[in-house]
Amino acid sequence: PDELRLAEGIALQAAVASENSRLYEGVKQQYAELQRTQAQLIQSTKLAAIGELAANIAHEINNPLTSVLGFASYLAEQVPHGQPMREELDLIQEEAGRARDIVRDLLHFSRQREFVPQVTDLNQVLEQTLVMVRRQGAFDSITLHEEYAEGLPPVEVDVPRIKQVFLNLINNAVYVMQERGGSLTLRSSFSGGMVRVEVADTGTGIAPEHLGRIFEPFFTTKPEVSGTGLGLSVSLGIVESHGGTIGVQSELGVGSTFTVKLPAKPGASVEDDPDA
Ligand SMILES: Nc1ncnc2c1ncn2[C@@H]1O[C@H](COP(=O)(O)OP(=O)(O)OP(=O)(O)O)[C@@H](O)[C@H]1O
Ligand SMILES: [Mg+2]
Repeated sequence: PDELRLAEGIALQAAVASENSRLYEGVKQQYAELQRTQAQLIQSTKLAAIGELAANIAHEINNPLTSVLGFASYLAEQVPHGQPMREELDLIQEEAGRARDIVRDLLHFSRQREFVPQVTDLNQVLEQTLVMVRRQGAFDSITLHEEYAEGLPPVEVDVPRIKQVFLNLINNAVYVMQERGGSLTLRSSFSGGMVRVEVADTGTGIAPEHLGRIFEPFFTTKPEVSGTGLGLSVSLGIVESHGGTIGVQSELGVGSTFTVKLPAKPGASVEDDPDA
């Protein structure tokens, strides 16, 4: 009977040990999960803080800027072309206008506009975005390829925000092909429950050491006056708030492809689009 009790004791200890190791595995996994969530939280808190700061600054700068623009245009109207100081007054207007554009971008970055989800066809959103880009005369030296999948399932998105994302990606692509020309391909497809849009250029490509930083707010390789470095970070924020992702593949000197994936809403019916 003693031996039996001993055997029972050993069996119990073994069971406890195995239970302990199972629990330990669980704790380890939860700890890793916690660390991941914490890193994400720090990142999004940082972005939110930067957004708020940017919005405050932008708002404060907007008022004096409006006066500068207003008075400069008033004075320019008083001075005919070719007269002394007219050129300087035009320059003031031009530069203040540029400052206003940056301020507008910053206000956009703070994302204070109401979020209005709408069931929609992404192909249509792409086409509407292209209309805006064509108006800027951006495609003079660039060949455009549109490869839209037919019968794409709809998505439920805030249309102006998603347009902003495509616009940012297209503008970046156009910028890197401005001088040498090239081709821009917009491609849509559907796989794994996600509607996918690719924006591919044959521009400069992205240096490997920059690749990890391009989605950071204020990261830019553009000359000081032409880029704020907000396009991609704003776009990433918008796409993630829709439950989607943005990825990039790039080869230096060959070109870059940005891929936006948004969750499909199969079966939902596309709402009438007021913009269409
Ligand atoms: N299609 C692209 N080809 C090559 N580099 C790119 C491309 N898109 C983005 N980049 C790189 O990523 C950086 C960040 O892009 P992002 O759109 O965030 O800011 P930006 O274009 O520099 O300025 P902004 O969009 O605010 O005018 C760019 O400066 C550029 O270095
Ligand atoms: Mg940009």
